[in-house]
Formats: sequence, structure tokens, C-alpha cells
Amino acid sequence: MSTPVRTAPPVSATAADPDAAVVALDGVGKTFANGTAALADVQLEVAPGELVSFVGPSGCGKSTVFRLIAGLADPTRGTVSVMGTSPQRARRDGSVAYVFQDPTLLPWASVRDNVALPLRLRGDGRRERAAAADRALELVGLDGHERDLPRQLSGGMRMRVSIARALVSRPRLLLMDEPFGALDEITRQALQGELLRIWRQADDMTVLFVTHNVFEAVYLSTRIAVMAPRPGRIAAALTVAEPYPREAAFRTSPQFSAAVAEVGAALHASALPAGASAPATEADRVQ
Ligand SMILES: Nc1ncnc2c1ncn2[C@@H]1O[C@H](COP(=O)(O)OP(=O)(O)O)[C@@H](O)[C@H]1O
Ligand SMILES: [Mg+2]
Repeated sequence: MSTPVRTAPPVSATAADPDAAVVALDGVGKTFANGTAALADVQLEVAPGELVSFVGPSGCGKSTVFRLIAGLADPTRGTVSVMGTSPQRARRDGSVAYVFQDPTLLPWASVRDNVALPLRLRGDGRRERAAAADRALELVGLDGHERDLPRQLSGGMRMRVSIARALVSRPRLLLMDEPFGALDEITRQALQGELLRIWRQADDMTVLFVTHNVFEAVYLSTRIAVMAPRPGRIAAALTVAEPYPREAAFRTSPQFSAAVAEVGAALHASALPAGASAPATEADRVQ
């Protein structure tokens, strides 16, 4: 696939541009010092208010894409821009928040203090921090647990704390890297519903979400970027047409099954070398 020639978005020295694509990846490649080509020619634009999932086998570069968008690493080719500015600047502005699979909470600090941490690092006052933390905790359904310690909470509740900590600075872009991967299926589905509610309630917040789980991607997303490995690339970007709110019944509908089948087919096709038609056993390995 050839890359359309485009001028790189200007990296503005002033405030982020509110009309720009939230994320624009243009011809992005990343080759690590040891020679691993983690990404090649990644092209994607995400509009404000989208919820885009990235699915693909382990090692296809999903976390690397997120690290570039978060400004934690630089591409070796192409440009990454976030809200019309550099990823580093967008992150410093507090416009971007990150949730990982591991909630990484401070074990000695209360739930409220954990959630308030980004505001404390930013220098906000104590009363202001506590009020904002309590609002975020209410949003994730944890009001009443402000004074608990992380060890008193279940895995699902710890993940809610981690999400509240990401939301407390009111980010315009929320990056979630396999956030529900360690949770049991029931808790995972509950948190998917919560995430959609929070996303819809927030004004134009954009969510990028990494998952191995095709069902999770279909339930949540406006669009799904199907990634392929060696080198990591976006093999297909599929739109999920189902309107929101998505009820639990969506999970058992024919539309859901059709979307899951479509994503599955794109994953299988993308695992093959270009132009090859592999035997079924080859395709089955992708699962
Ligand atoms: N710092 C690094 N140095 C060298 N190789 C790396 C580094 N980080 C990731 N990789 C490699 O880049 C590829 C993509 O990794 P990653 O983005 O973590 O994949 P995913 O999140 O899809 O599982 C893998 O082959 C991984 O081993
Ligand atoms: Mg990863």
C-alpha cells in the first residue's frame, strides 16, 4: 500500500488547536536500536469524540503506537501529532491520560490520594484536589471508598481507581492499553459498560483502547484498527455502525456477530504475507 504524500502538521509552539484531529499518525515507523522494526508506515487520523480500538496479536506494536502518541518515545520515521501539536506538549498540557493493565496504585495512599496524584504533581491545592478526586470517584462508581487503601479493593475496583486517576485531570484524550486484560469476564463486561457511559458523558473525550479481545473491541468502538505484525502496521480500519447507547443485548445480536466475524477475518488476512493464501491451519494459528 502506498502512502499518500502529505505535509506534516505544524508543531505549534502555542496552545493545542481545538479543531485538529485528536491524533494524526502520518507515515509513522519505529525501529528500535536493536534493529526490531516495531512499526512501519502507520497512517491514522482520529477525530474528536471517537473511541478507536487497536486489536492484533502480541508484539504487533500496539503499545509502541501508544507510547508514541503519549510522547514517551519518538518515531524513527513520519510524524505523530496530538491535537495539532507534539505529543510531548499535549501531555504536558494535561490533555492526555494513560491507563495500563496494571493499575499501579500507591499501596500506602488512600484511594482519594491516589486519584488526586496527577493534580498534586501539577501543584493544585489540597481542597481542590480532594473535590476533583471525589468527583472522579463518583464517576467510576466508587463513592464511599475515598479513604480505603488499594489492598482493601478487588481487582475491578482497583482498575476503577486507575480510571478515576486518569479522568481527574479531565483529559481530552484517554489512552487505555489492555486495561481490562487481567479482569474476569463479568467484571470486564461491567467495566466496558462503565467506560461507554463515562465516554458518552464526557464532552468530546476521545478514547484509544488496546485489546486482544475482538468481542471487547466490537462492543466498545466506533472504529477498530486491525494491526498486523512484522513489521507492525494497521492492516484495516473497520467502522462499527451500531449506534450508542449500546445495550447489553447488542452482545448477542446478529449485528454483533457479523462485526466480530469481520474483524476476525481482517485479523486472519493480515497475519498472512501479502498476496499469500495460506492453508487453514496457518490462519488458525492467529487466534
Ligand atoms: N524498547 C524496545 N526495544 C526493542 N524492541 C522493543 C522495545 N519495545 C518493544 N519492542 C519490540 O517491538 C515489537 C512491538 O512491541 P509492542 O508494541 O509492545 O507490541 P504489543 O503491545 O502489540 O504486544 C515487539 O517485537 C517488541 O518485542
Ligand atoms: Mg502491549
